[in-house]
Amino acid sequence: MKQITILGSTGSIGANAIKVVTANPELFRIKYLSAGQNAVKLIEQAITLKPKAVAIADSSKALQIENALKPYSIEVLSGKDGILEIASRSDVNLVVNAIVGSAGLEPSIGVLNAGIDLALSNKESLVMAGEIINKLLKKNKLNLFPIDSEHSAIRQCLVGENPTDIRKLILTGSGGPFRLLPINQFGDITPEQALKHPTWNMGKKISIDSATMMNKGLEIIEAYWLFNVPPEKIEVLIHPQSIIHSMVEFVDGSIKAQLGLPDMKLPIQYALSYPGRFPVSWEATNFTEIGQLTFESPDFNKFPALQLAFDALHRGGTAPAILNVVNEFAVYAFLENKLSFMEIPGLVDRALTKLTIVDHPTLQDILEAEQSGREFVEQHVQRHN
Ligand SMILES: NC(=O)c1ccc[n+]([C@@H]2O[C@H](COP(=O)([O-])OP(=O)(O)OC[C@H]3O[C@@H](n4cnc5c(N)ncnc54)[C@H](OP(=O)(O)O)[C@@H]3O)[C@@H](O)[C@H]2O)c1
Repeated sequence: MKQITILGSTGSIGANAIKVVTANPELFRIKYLSAGQNAVKLIEQAITLKPKAVAIADSSKALQIENALKPYSIEVLSGKDGILEIASRSDVNLVVNAIVGSAGLEPSIGVLNAGIDLALSNKESLVMAGEIINKLLKKNKLNLFPIDSEHSAIRQCLVGENPTDIRKLILTGSGGPFRLLPINQFGDITPEQALKHPTWNMGKKISIDSATMMNKGLEIIEAYWLFNVPPEKIEVLIHPQSIIHSMVEFVDGSIKAQLGLPDMKLPIQYALSYPGRFPVSWEATNFTEIGQLTFESPDFNKFPALQLAFDALHRGGTAPAILNVVNEFAVYAFLENKLSFMEIPGLVDRALTKLTIVDHPTLQDILEAEQSGREFVEQHVQRHN
C-alpha cells in the first residue's frame, strides 16, 4: 500500500486527488494533508480520512483545527513551517503538490530534499526553479509525475519512444473564455467573466491564467523542464473542445495524441498509477456526442502572455520566476478589481524589463526574485488605486 501526502487538499486538484485515492483504498492511504486557510474543509477531510497529521498555512486557524481534531489524535501543524514540515515527512511514498502559486515552490523542494517522489500539479514550482528541481531529481534519483493534463498527455505519448525522435511537442489549449471576443473589448473584461472557463472547472488563479493564456505560457516553460526539448520544439495549438490533451510529433511525421474528457481525475490517477493504469467507473468518452474536434492558431496579439513566456524561457535565469510571480500577484489584484485584465500581461512585460535577472539562480536568488516581483505589483497597485 502506498502512503500519500496531499498538499493543497482543500483546493480543486486536492479534492480530486482525494477522490482518486479513496476510490482505490486497497492501493493507497492518505497520511498527511495540508491547506492554505480553509479550516472547515480541512477539518472535514481530516475527520473522514484520519491522516496522521494536517498542516494549515494560516496560523490563526490552528487552534480551531486542534479543538476539532482532539478526539481523533491527529497532529496539527501550522504556518509556512508547518506546511514545509508536512511536505518533508519521509514516511510516505509519494507527495501530491496541489498548492496554488509560488507558495508551492519550497514545499516541492522540501519533498525532493526528503527523498520522496513528487506528483506535481503546482506548475509554478517548475516554472520558477526548473533547473534546481531537475538537479534534485537526478541527485536523489527521484520521479516527478506531472499532473497538468497537457504534460500528462505528453508523458503518455512518450511511453516507449526515444526522446531524440521528438520533432515537436504540441500543447493544446481551449483558448479560454475570450477566444472569440474582439480585442477592442478586452479593456472591459471583469473578474466574473474571466472566471467562467468554457470547458474546465478549476481554482480561481488558474482560471484567470487560462483567460489571459498565461496558463499556456507557464505550461510552455513547464514542458521545457519536464521533457528537455528546446523552446523552438514547443508549439501551442488552440483546441476548444479540450478532448485532445496534447500531442507529440516525431521525426518521421507520425503524431501521437492523448484524448479524454476534460476531467483532472484522469491525469491525477495516471500520476499515481504510472507506469500502469487502473480501471475506473467514470463517464466514458462518447465521440458521436462530441461530434467535432477543431483546431486554431493562438492569437499572440490578444494573448501577449504567450510571447512573454517564450521570451522569459529564452532569457532564462530568474526571468521565468519573475514572470510567474508578477503574473500571480497581478491576477490577485485583478480579482480584487485593482487592475484591469490587460494590465496583467502588461505588468509582467514591464517587470521583465525593469527587474534584475540573475543567471543560474540559487533557490535564494529565486526567492528574492519572488519578493521583488511581489513588491513590483504592490507598488503599481498602490500608485493606481
Ligand atoms: N484546477 C485544475 O483543474 C488544475 C489543472 C492543472 C493544473 N492545476 C494547477 O494545480 C495547482 C492548484 O490549482 P487549483 O485549481 O486546485 O487551486 P485552488 O483550488 O485554488 O487550490 C489551491 C490549494 O492551495 C492551498 N493554498 C493556497 N495558498 C497556500 C499557501 N500560501 N500555503 C499552502 N497552501 C496554500 C489552498 O488552500 P485553501 O483553499 O485552504 O486556502 C488550496 O488547498 C495550481 O498550480 C494550478 O495551476 C490546476
